[in-house]
Amino acid sequence: MTDLSHPPLPGALPDKRQVAASFSRAAASYDSVAELQRAVGGELLRRLPQKIAPRRWLDLGCGTGYFCRALDQAFPASQGLALDIAEGMLKHARPLGGAEHFIVGDAERLPLRDGNCELIFSSLAVQWCSDFAAVLSEASRVLQPGGVLAFASLCVGTLDELRESWRAADGMVHVNRFRPFSTYQQLCDASGLRVLNLEQVPHVLHYPDVRSLTHELKALGAHNLNPGRPGGLTGRARIVALVEAYEQLRQAQGLPATYQVVYAVLEKPL
Ligand SMILES: C[S@@+](CC[C@H](N)C(=O)[O-])C[C@H]1O[C@@H](n2cnc3c(N)ncnc32)[C@H](O)[C@@H]1O
Repeated sequence: MTDLSHPPLPGALPDKRQVAASFSRAAASYDSVAELQRAVGGELLRRLPQKIAPRRWLDLGCGTGYFCRALDQAFPASQGLALDIAEGMLKHARPLGGAEHFIVGDAERLPLRDGNCELIFSSLAVQWCSDFAAVLSEASRVLQPGGVLAFASLCVGTLDELRESWRAADGMVHVNRFRPFSTYQQLCDASGLRVLNLEQVPHVLHYPDVRSLTHELKALGAHNLNPGRPGGLTGRARIVALVEAYEQLRQAQGLPATYQVVYAVLEKPL
């Protein structure tokens, strides 16, 4: 991924083609390993305001479209738009339905007209966008007055066990970087949207071993894409050192991997 500090650092901007290619490659394996993504998107759905009845919704960064189908069930009378930067994800999602249109596009520059929808739902996608202010501004432009943006994202603290274990093993950047929660707060407050709810919630998953975790990240397309990541093969000695460091953290349920999830619900003023 990218350096998500604010303002974005030119030297560490995301290579969007790389993000798109990584998720496109992961489309076939994604659903089998998306336990956290299901839990987080489900929680985001529960956090939607009770009384909304959007005529048109947008699933921003829809991936394989699991939540398009959930939104279609929740709002059967509405029309759905599904948008993702990864064409391979859309190819996978399209035949499964849920949305009326599947659109290749970038959350930072939406190919949609002003006031196009009443709900934007985005689960675990915007952590890949280096310019989060642009995401908020585009969401605000595309929403109708009174419309709702609900997003879930990841912030600093995510995958720290893996990050620290790699640091102990070889001192290199092997894990994606994330914005601090305070940056989400600042940018949401400055967006012109009304913040109805903004919260950080830790989710901890457990793995039998380090390999299961790193394989899962790869299958999700969410392995390290940071600028400055080490190139080439990961040497055997470094892997042994990584495993040794991570094993120090073992709990009764297995090796913990913490995801610091940001949940937000914002409304465009009338
Ligand atoms: C972890 S997946 C989540 C997919 C889906 N929302 C879910 O919860 O299962 C992240 C998705 O965000 C998409 N994505 C990343 N950067 C994006 C951008 N700038 N604009 C649109 N989609 C983007 C990726 O291609 C990927 O499909």
